[in-house]
Amino acid sequence: MHTVYFDSKVNDQVRRQRLYEGQLFVFSPRPSTIALCEFARELIEEAFEGLDPRKAQYSMPVEDFVKIVAPLKPRFIHHPRTKELIRNILIEFGCDLNTTYQDVPRLRNATSDGYLTSGVGYAFHPHRDTWYSAPLCQLNWWLPIYGIESENSMAFHPRYWSQPVQNESSSFNYYEYNKTGRKDAAKHIKSDTRKQPRPTEALELDPQVRVVCEPGGVVLFSGAHLHSTVPNTSGFTRYSIDFRTVNIEDVANQNGAPNVDSYPQGTSLRDFVRASDLAPVPAQILALYGEQDPDTDEGLVFKPDNIQLENTQPLPVRQTIVETVLVETEKAPVPTV
Ligand SMILES: [Fe+2]
Repeated sequence: MHTVYFDSKVNDQVRRQRLYEGQLFVFSPRPSTIALCEFARELIEEAFEGLDPRKAQYSMPVEDFVKIVAPLKPRFIHHPRTKELIRNILIEFGCDLNTTYQDVPRLRNATSDGYLTSGVGYAFHPHRDTWYSAPLCQLNWWLPIYGIESENSMAFHPRYWSQPVQNESSSFNYYEYNKTGRKDAAKHIKSDTRKQPRPTEALELDPQVRVVCEPGGVVLFSGAHLHSTVPNTSGFTRYSIDFRTVNIEDVANQNGAPNVDSYPQGTSLRDFVRASDLAPVPAQILALYGEQDPDTDEGLVFKPDNIQLENTQPLPVRQTIVETVLVETEKAPVPTV
């Protein structure tokens, strides 16, 4: 049984537990989410120089479209204003900034009618983020920047919440992916050869659940949910923002969604920083996930080329957190849709 909680007022702890059970939370636009989407719209519209970004794909070759959106993404991702706006969202949603860790947000586009389905416009096949090395307690926040329809939204496939899917996650290595995969995304225009963990069995994607909300609305879900990009037949390019959070106490206690079929190598935990001060995940917690010294290995953290990385200096870790330590593990995400 899956429930969609709409504008729920339960606190963050209760919300997380329900999300770990596979429930979905949907929220109406709020001041903080509207502000983030308005900022993204400003950057997008500036980049398209007066063209309607939702229709621009029809007036230029796909190579030119890529030239516009490829630099736009890192600009948004690493803009200091973006970090501030995300923090405001976490505050408005009642998250404790001392225990909530966030990764960098993504700005995604899904063009219509198969115009661009690879590289910077990659259309995600059905997947769990945990196949991509997300921890099982990872939560995904997804916001449309412009109005969407069912035909350019994202889909959940809830029957697979508890049902394993044969997949390639066991041959997915998160660190290899960071080294060779994501930074080359802009080179993939006609096809995409990056190694992605895919299902290796036929899936029954229906019944599927799609959520259509207003710009600045939020869909909040577990990274362990099987989800996919809806093939866009709407006639409009979809632009969306997604970011991920983990609660460090849940990370330390290995609380989270059940692991039904995710066996990647490595963890994306190093991508997360504490919302209060951008401190990294403490080494002793990484160690629980089989990780060694986080500062020594090249390529363990995704850093796109040619961008100004603000606030990436590791800050002093205040030991406010977890005294509760448990045992091993490693799990998994990267993408949303
Ligand atoms: Fe995803």
